[in-house]
Amino acid sequence: MHASLIDTIRPGGMTRRQFIKSVIAVGAVSSSGFLFSGPADAGPSTSPGTVERLITLNVNGQRRRVDVLPQETLAQTLRNKLGLTGLKVGCDRGECGSCTVLVDTVPQYACSLLTHSVRGKAILTVEGLARADGKLHPLQQGVLDEQGFQCGYCAPGFLMATLGFLATNPNPTRQELAHGVSGNLCRCQDYDKILTALMRGAENMRKE
Ligand code: FES
Repeated sequence: MHASLIDTIRPGGMTRRQFIKSVIAVGAVSSSGFLFSGPADAGPSTSPGTVERLITLNVNGQRRRVDVLPQETLAQTLRNKLGLTGLKVGCDRGECGSCTVLVDTVPQYACSLLTHSVRGKAILTVEGLARADGKLHPLQQGVLDEQGFQCGYCAPGFLMATLGFLATNPNPTRQELAHGVSGNLCRCQDYDKILTALMRGAENMRKE
């Protein structure tokens, strides 16, 4: 009986099953366009009168020379010019936290910072967490052990926000850590599991 309901012919000649498939397909195309072809991935605009300037950034303990436009955000520079695509750009307007990096140990939204404003400061991205021998950072290991994320798009931002928070409170309660990473959003919304993983990572860090 269910099959006959699902396959009911729509007025336009489309079955219910076909109609649902077409809606899902359109949704997938729309969201992939938003996530992967958004303004940050398109790179900074090159309107007349804008001139790139060669500057030196301190990224993950290395001096990186890079040409930067005056209006370029740190997210654009890191992802598009330095190839550090670990940080993600979700909203590109300071709302989701997926672009979080540490600037002088303080979590910051890279989409909302002009690159020129962080000259002389120490920038740490998720690529800078693993040890030289390839061993994961204890925070990363905790997330891996607990399988804390579903799609993982927001994971780098959560890791960096947590690291910044733990620098001020190395032994937080679950509630304190939840508050500490409240500037980061997860579209899958499995916050309970994320918190468990981050707490495990914090514990790993204290043991090191
Ligand atoms: Fe920067 Fe969402 S991409 S806060």
